[in-house]
Amino acid sequence: MINVAVLGYGTVGSGVVEVIEKNKEEINKKSGESLNIKYILDLRDFPGDPYESKVVHDVEIIMNDPEINVICETMGGIHPAYEFSKRALLLGKSVCTSNKELVANHGPELIRLAKENKCNYLFEASVGGGIPIIRPINYSLTAEKIDGITGILNGTTNYILSKMAEEGADFEDVLKEAQEKGYAERNPEADVEGYDACRKIAILSSLMTGKNVKYEDIYTEGITKITATDFVYAKAMGRSIKLLAMSRECEDGSFYAMVAPFMIPMSHPLYSVSGVFNAVFVHGNMLGDSMYYGKGAGKLPTASAVVSDVVDCARHIGKTIMCFWDDEDVKQAKVDNIRHRFFVRTKAELEKEAIEIFGMMRVVVADVEGEYAFITEEMSEREFDEKAKKLGGVLNRIRLEA
Ligand code: HSE
Repeated sequence: MINVAVLGYGTVGSGVVEVIEKNKEEINKKSGESLNIKYILDLRDFPGDPYESKVVHDVEIIMNDPEINVICETMGGIHPAYEFSKRALLLGKSVCTSNKELVANHGPELIRLAKENKCNYLFEASVGGGIPIIRPINYSLTAEKIDGITGILNGTTNYILSKMAEEGADFEDVLKEAQEKGYAERNPEADVEGYDACRKIAILSSLMTGKNVKYEDIYTEGITKITATDFVYAKAMGRSIKLLAMSRECEDGSFYAMVAPFMIPMSHPLYSVSGVFNAVFVHGNMLGDSMYYGKGAGKLPTASAVVSDVVDCARHIGKTIMCFWDDEDVKQAKVDNIRHRFFVRTKAELEKEAIEIFGMMRVVVADVEGEYAFITEEMSEREFDEKAKKLGGVLNRIRLEA
C-alpha cells in the first residue's frame, strides 16, 4: 500500500482526493499498489466532508509517520511549501506538486534532494495543468535535441484574448466579465502581466536545456496593452493575437526565452487554441514539430496530473526517475538582439515619416480611421526600439510569429 498525504485541501488538493477516489480501480491497477489517502493537511476543519477524519493541522504528524511514502503538495506559494517539500524529500518521501512558483524557484535543489534520498520530486501539474508535457519532454523525447518550445501556457489570458477576438471587446471589459464568472482571479496581475506564463516557460526551458533557466531573466510582457483596435487589424491580416511563451536554442548556441503577445497566422497550430485551453508546441531536431493540447487549469485536470505523478512514484519506490535540470544557470541572450517582424500602429499623419524611418514595410489596411498601420521587415528589438523612438507616436506594436 502507498500512503499519501495531501498538503492543502483547496481546489487542487480536493481534486487530488476526488481523482484518487473516483478512479481508484484504474489507478491502483496502474500503480501496482493500492493508494491510500492517510492525511490531509490544512489549517481549516471540514465538518461533514467525507475525508474529515483525515484532516490534520500539524505537518509533523505527516513528517513523523514512516508509512507516508508520497506527499502531494497542492498548497501553492513558496512558504511554507518549500520548507515542507524539502523536509519530506530529506526523509525519503516523494513529493508531487502543482506549484509552478516553487518549481521555478527551487526546482534544481529539490530534484537533487530527491536524488540524494532515493525518492522523487515530480511536477507534471506545474505546467499546462492536465496536459502531459513534463513527462513527454523528460521521458518520451529523449532521442531528440529539443531546440524550440512555444506555448500558450496561461488559460486566463487566452480566455480574455479569445473573447476580445470573438466579441471585439476591450481588455478591461472582458477581464471584468472573466472575474465575475470566476475565470480570472480577483488579483489578475500574475496572469495578465505574463508572470505565470514566465514561470511555466522557465520550467520547460530548464528541462529543454538541462540547466537552470532563471525566470527573473526572461523578458516578459503581458496583455494589458492589447486593445479592440489591435484585433480589428489582426482580423484584417487573417491573424490572431496570443500570449506566447517561447524558448529557443539558436544555431549559434545562444538561448533565449520570452513571454509576449504575438500575432499568429491562421496556419499556425496555436491559432485555434481558444478559451481556457493551453497548448505546447515542441520542436525536436529529429521528430520536427509535436504539439500537446488540453485543459491547462481547473480542479480535476490539474489534480489528474498530480495523481499521475503519484502513480509514477508508486512504480518507483526506492528509485529516482531521471530528470535533467542542473543548478548551473543558462546564459540568456539579451532581448535586444532577438529578431522579429513587428506590426505597428501610428497616427495617419505620420505615414511619410514611418516610410522614411522603417523603409520596406507592408501596409495593413483595416476599418480604422485616422491611423497608419504596417508590418516591418525582420529586425532586432534594439533596432525596432530605435526606429520607433525616432518616429514617436507609436500607438501600439505587436510582434509577429511566422
Ligand atoms: N492562473 C493559471 C491560468 C492557472 O490561468 O492558466 C493554471 O496555472
